[in-house]
Amino acid sequence: MLERRSPIEKKPIIVAIDGPAASGKSTTAKLLAARLGYTYIDTGAMYRAVTLRVLREGLLDEIRRDESGIAELLEQITIGFQGHRVLLDGEDVSGAIRENRVSREVSFISSLKPVRDKLRELQQEMGRKRGIVMDGRDIGTVIFPDAELKIFLVADPRERARRRHAELSLKASGAAVPSIEELEAEIVKRDRDDEERTHAPLRRHADAVLLDTSKMTIDEQVNVVYELVNKIAGQ
Ligand code: DC
Repeated sequence: MLERRSPIEKKPIIVAIDGPAASGKSTTAKLLAARLGYTYIDTGAMYRAVTLRVLREGLLDEIRRDESGIAELLEQITIGFQGHRVLLDGEDVSGAIRENRVSREVSFISSLKPVRDKLRELQQEMGRKRGIVMDGRDIGTVIFPDAELKIFLVADPRERARRRHAELSLKASGAAVPSIEELEAEIVKRDRDDEERTHAPLRRHADAVLLDTSKMTIDEQVNVVYELVNKIAGQ
């Protein structure tokens, strides 16, 4: 009997999704991966986990003075995923890495070369088996420049602030949520930090498909990318 498999099952590919903060990368990537039966890898969570460990050890000021101080910590640290949960040295830190203090410092920690070198190695290893959707800032440019499909998501800053506000309000359960204006200012600052850093700045690979999600629903975003995967993987 003829084997009946979808084109996607025949040729697992790597889907690289990059873009600025709150552009819809992780929501799109997560849903897309579920639909394809692929593994989703949130590389921002990995940078957040390193930042959390630095904060817990009280090493931030020392590393600001001398960034070589992070090398020892990087040798000891283990980061992994269990489904969508993020594990730092075996502990589930999925909630802790979203705390504000981590969000404030993660741009600095992710700008350090030793951190990028370590996480690049880990991420490339995770992609070896293919059939992955990986999102971040440098996936299409540095981690997998040969990924069969590269997507660059953008959305205007006000819209991104509105989305972040809605997301935080949903989770806040009584805690104060920053205003849309404050969130927009934070987003614009983080874009600038990520774009202007020396190592692996946020840039669109020339081959990446540019998708402006300002006026798109999540379903529409996922559908567009799913169709692109289908086209490529079915060839
Ligand atoms: O996607 P996120 O907001 O969780 O990412 C947190 C930070 O990590 C963000 O400021 C940029 C950085 N980052 C990065 O430099 N490279 C990646 N591949 C992913 C995230």
